[in-house]
Amino acid sequence: MAQQDENILKKVVSHAKEYGFIFPSSEIYDGLSAVYDYGQNGVELKNNIKEYWWQFMTRMHSNIVGIDSAIFMHPTIWKASGHVDAFNDPMIDNKDSKKRYRADVLIEDAVAKMEEKIDKEVEKAAKRFGESFDKAMFVQTNGRVLEYLKKINETNARLKAAMNNNDMADLKQLVVDLEITDPVSGSKNWTDARQFNLMFSTDMGSIAEEANKIYLRPETAQGIFVNFLNVQKTGRMKVPFGIAQIGKAFRNEIVARQFIFRMRDFEQMEMQFFVKPGEEMKWYEYWKENRMKWHQALGLGKEKYRFHDHLNLAHYANAACDIQFEFPMGFKELEGIHSRTDFDLKSHEKFSGKKLQYFDSEDNQNFVPYVVETSVGLDRMFLSVLSSAYTEEKLEDGSERIVLKIPPPLAPSKVAILPLIKKDGLPEKAEAIMNSLRFDFQCYYEDKDTIGKRYRRMDAIGTPFCLTIDHQTLQDETITIRYRDSMKQDRVKVDEVHKLLEKECAIKNLLRVI
Ligand code: GAP
Repeated sequence: MAQQDENILKKVVSHAKEYGFIFPSSEIYDGLSAVYDYGQNGVELKNNIKEYWWQFMTRMHSNIVGIDSAIFMHPTIWKASGHVDAFNDPMIDNKDSKKRYRADVLIEDAVAKMEEKIDKEVEKAAKRFGESFDKAMFVQTNGRVLEYLKKINETNARLKAAMNNNDMADLKQLVVDLEITDPVSGSKNWTDARQFNLMFSTDMGSIAEEANKIYLRPETAQGIFVNFLNVQKTGRMKVPFGIAQIGKAFRNEIVARQFIFRMRDFEQMEMQFFVKPGEEMKWYEYWKENRMKWHQALGLGKEKYRFHDHLNLAHYANAACDIQFEFPMGFKELEGIHSRTDFDLKSHEKFSGKKLQYFDSEDNQNFVPYVVETSVGLDRMFLSVLSSAYTEEKLEDGSERIVLKIPPPLAPSKVAILPLIKKDGLPEKAEAIMNSLRFDFQCYYEDKDTIGKRYRRMDAIGTPFCLTIDHQTLQDETITIRYRDSMKQDRVKVDEVHKLLEKECAIKNLLRVI
């Protein structure tokens, strides 16, 4: 990570704490690694992201319904899903720093560095040749670029084979061959790579025996699979249809760093879309495009998103890609889109002895549906919004401000109600205005400090609009509205405010453009 970007992430982390977005969990006991609590502003932003996703999935698609399944599930579910045997990450330790890493991630990072080098070569050449530069030709013919490409392809192929064949020896050898150094100590003194299961377990009931061992779900998806027939039958759903769910998931991550990007206790927003066998690729493409549009409608910048096809397919998938986002630490996975075949339903049929099939009345036949899954981390969505919203600005008068340019429909508070002074009937008028808005919009009432200081505090938590109530308000029912991003101020009638907020802050306006 470049020094500058690392600084941005640090600033985002400390801003999130200072302004009540995210606190380290159990802070008075020195925290708990990779576990975080959401504060008063954080929970509002998080709830708004959930609502944006939930409304898009369940309201905008008449063939998708939601559920909320329990975190604890029958332990055999995790045997059937393959998680007991295959939900492992290869870990490797550096003997000098005593730090633990995911071996595959170290290798992927090394590949990303080679890709960056190619980009630099292209950039340099583009400058040198000016308008006559032909990028495609350059990439196909430049010796250095071709060398990097060859090495990237070889590395990817070896990584894929090692992961598929569970070949820990070759994974370690790849780390050695690529001369990967520990980012902390700079040393190349590595242990062997070994597999590590990521599921947390606990005991159910009062006797701690193996038979009572249950797992904290590592994905919400299995709660959907095991309820597939319940929902299909009671909801009279016809294939293709989807089931959506938002909920906690738990993973004992080997490397849990980068703030809320990789946590041990996090939330997922997942949707399983059940389709006719043979139609899964059509729906996979549909959901890829559809999910990208959902992300881009937020207006954080189209260039901040890209697709990344999976080289190493999970045990259940026949096609998979990520939607990556440009976080402060670079492009990283935000959402996964997977064509999961009929693996999960078939496996649950086998392990439970119950049929999980759909009767197609048109064809007069039963089949086990194929599944296309969309799975986005709620906390990662939160980080994508927060990190791209964080802006430091130098103002014309030489002062500086920090403003969170959060898309207004997601902002924790939509509007601040600010009586200019705490007397002359202004607080009462301000309260009356707030009471007329609070049914539809999260309002923030603030009457302490100068108006300038209050504006800055609202900028820092991303409140898109401030309404200042002054003496003139009492006479002519007008107020000053101040816009967060432009800092422009207008005088408007009190009864126009609701319409204006509605236009800028309603989630439905985002949904309309998708
Ligand atoms: N049901 C499929 C599944 O769980 P995944 O790619 O392992 O697939 C889906 O996870 C999404 O969940 C990821 O794209 C990411 O946004 C989020 N996620 C996964 N592990 C996470 C973690 N440790 N902390 C935060 N978010 C995580």
